[in-house]
Amino acid sequence: MKILVAVYSRSGHTLNLAKKITDELGAELDIIVDKKKRKGIIGWFLSGKDAGMKKKTEIEFSKNPKDYDKIVLGAPVWAGRMTPAVRTYIIQNNIKESAFFCTFGGDAGKIADDFQDMLSKVVAYLGLKARDVERDIESIKAFCRIVKNS
Ligand SMILES: Cc1cc2nc3c(=O)[nH]c(=O)nc-3n(C[C@H](O)[C@H](O)[C@H](O)COP(=O)(O)O)c2cc1C
Repeated sequence: MKILVAVYSRSGHTLNLAKKITDELGAELDIIVDKKKRKGIIGWFLSGKDAGMKKKTEIEFSKNPKDYDKIVLGAPVWAGRMTPAVRTYIIQNNIKESAFFCTFGGDAGKIADDFQDMLSKVVAYLGLKARDVERDIESIKAFCRIVKNS
């Protein structure tokens, strides 16, 4: 069983969670790169706006999801929604079924709705506040158990 964990992360929290999930699942990790400049305060504002408007972006990644039996997607919450990089990844790769996880500062907003809308089947969901990534090991393990048994 080959599992791919594909993640976008602007400042490292979701990548940190992705690495823990990858280890727990014995999966392979791929990092989705957003080619749009998103650093600094202007980048922050534009990113929130792009996410709120459900925009796509230009991305790079290195592994082909079609080579895997299961896909697990990871994204930070931006303006209560899915990040453009992961939205683009789902569309570009025509992903229909996936588990997903996210990190956020205080409120996951409507990101779960976005995943439900874009995928035919959401296998499992894990949303963690960024500060809980290091301490909520039980939730991470429970998420991985559902993915493994799906
Ligand atoms: C543009 C932008 C918008 C954000 N919007 C939200 C939000 O609506 N709700 C929230 O709880 N956190 C929000 N955050 C905080 C991030 O979701 C949180 O810091 C996340 O852990 C960052 O993940 P990363 O380090 O993988 O990029 C936002 C961050 C950015 C950069």
